[in-house]
Amino acid sequence: MKFFVDTADVDEIREINDIGLLDGVTTNPSLIMKSGRDIMEVTKEICDIVDGPVSAEVTATDYDGMIKEAAVLEKIAKNICIKLPLTLDGLKACKTLTGRGMKVNVTLCFSANQALLAAKAGATFISPFIGRLDDLGVDGMELIEEIRVIYDNYDFKTEILAASIRSADHVKQAAIIGADVATIPPAVIKSLAKHALTDKGLDAFLADWAKTGQKIE
Ligand code: E4P
Repeated sequence: MKFFVDTADVDEIREINDIGLLDGVTTNPSLIMKSGRDIMEVTKEICDIVDGPVSAEVTATDYDGMIKEAAVLEKIAKNICIKLPLTLDGLKACKTLTGRGMKVNVTLCFSANQALLAAKAGATFISPFIGRLDDLGVDGMELIEEIRVIYDNYDFKTEILAASIRSADHVKQAAIIGADVATIPPAVIKSLAKHALTDKGLDAFLADWAKTGQKIE
């Protein structure tokens, strides 16, 4: 499973990237707003840090506007992935842009049928939002399962990018189902390494080690 980090905070991206676990980044207009930075400037900085795809989202809602904005975003760096909303105009733009060889992440997916359309439009990634479905009392993970089955049925190459992840359990469940990618908030990525027994075991090992009086040198 590939790990993308879901943030536009450059310091957080650098920290996770330095661990060596990062395969890409996703941003959206809300995350850009949260960063307080200019979209072009911050996205360029992110693309320079991370080797993998960096999703930058258009804000136009009509086909022509999306294509125009994609042309601007595409110039930022080679690893830009254009993020388009799952609307009819977004799907049309997806078909055009992927036809030109660009990477496209179709976002705001909340149903299996939407994911089917995105695959038919040639999307590189489909982003089903788990947490926002859970918020409504609907099991977001069931959507990941349904999309996995549909994509496998037809051998679609579109990668399932599990998004709106809120917890370590979301990451585990998405991995069990076989999502290709998870885009994860920085705090959740770090939490994946935590276990109380790891901390307890390490404390015990260090205490015993101190009693030996030895040093590894
Ligand atoms: C995906 O690309 C989105 O940026 C993100 O996962 C949305 O997450 P949220 O529902 O926590 O805002």
